[in-house]
Amino acid sequence: MSSEPHRPVTAVIVVAAGSGERLGYGMPKAAVPLGDEPILLHALRGVVASGVASQVCIALPAGHDALKQLVDDFRLELVDGGPVLTVVDGGASRSDSVRSALAAVETGTEAVLVHDAARALTPEYVFHRVVDSLAAGALAVIPAVPVVDTVKTVAPTTGEGGRIAPEIVTGTAPRESLRAVQTPQGFHLPTLVKAHEAAMNLADEQAAAVTDDAMLVELLGVPVHAVHGSTQSLKITTPLDLIIAEGLLEGPLGVRWVEG
Ligand code: C5P
Repeated sequence: MSSEPHRPVTAVIVVAAGSGERLGYGMPKAAVPLGDEPILLHALRGVVASGVASQVCIALPAGHDALKQLVDDFRLELVDGGPVLTVVDGGASRSDSVRSALAAVETGTEAVLVHDAARALTPEYVFHRVVDSLAAGALAVIPAVPVVDTVKTVAPTTGEGGRIAPEIVTGTAPRESLRAVQTPQGFHLPTLVKAHEAAMNLADEQAAAVTDDAMLVELLGVPVHAVHGSTQSLKITTPLDLIIAEGLLEGPLGVRWVEG
């Protein structure tokens, strides 16, 4: 008998409904060109190449026909089957977009990975680490990398102090235990559904502070595990990120790129 752990039937949710204002292209970030192709296509190619997904559920900006067409064209490329590609309208917040995609996950799905389209260059091995951890029994698992900067908390300076500097330091977090968190984040499907149902009861201010899915699972008291991510999984957010991503694609960093 094989001792291989059961591989969960997995759907990958790709959230691509953000406006991408910080990139300054005047179009949704998913549609912004990276090399020869839009960011979304790079992200989808990465998900499909990893081979972990039986379904890819993509949240797009509502009414963005060009991105819908892009997915339709990509579907035609997957001649030998490949995962089912499902498109849904995203929502006003990232969490809304995830919930919209969760509602379209096929019956029989056991695990779900939530991935930012903006992390278009995520290496395949990161997807595998996340799914391996789910297969080993994790209910929630995130890829993360050590933080290289010293991280401090600050508060706005009040009164006279404002003349000296706009903010004052209130503390320094211990760097050894800090991690920068990435996607794809993996979950046992019923756990993520429960976390998002609970999130509907959050006050507006709390809801606005939710920046990833793992936060919602933490609020349920479910342990969230961490595997090593990749510095190549950068979230393309600013024009500088786009320059770095272009550089990675062109390969000049290739021979110098040493990481695990
Ligand atoms: O805005 P932020 O950088 O946190 O976005 C992370 C990811 O979430 C992006 O891939 C973006 O397209 C997606 N998103 C979404 N729906 C929103 C806001 C963001 O799908 N309303």
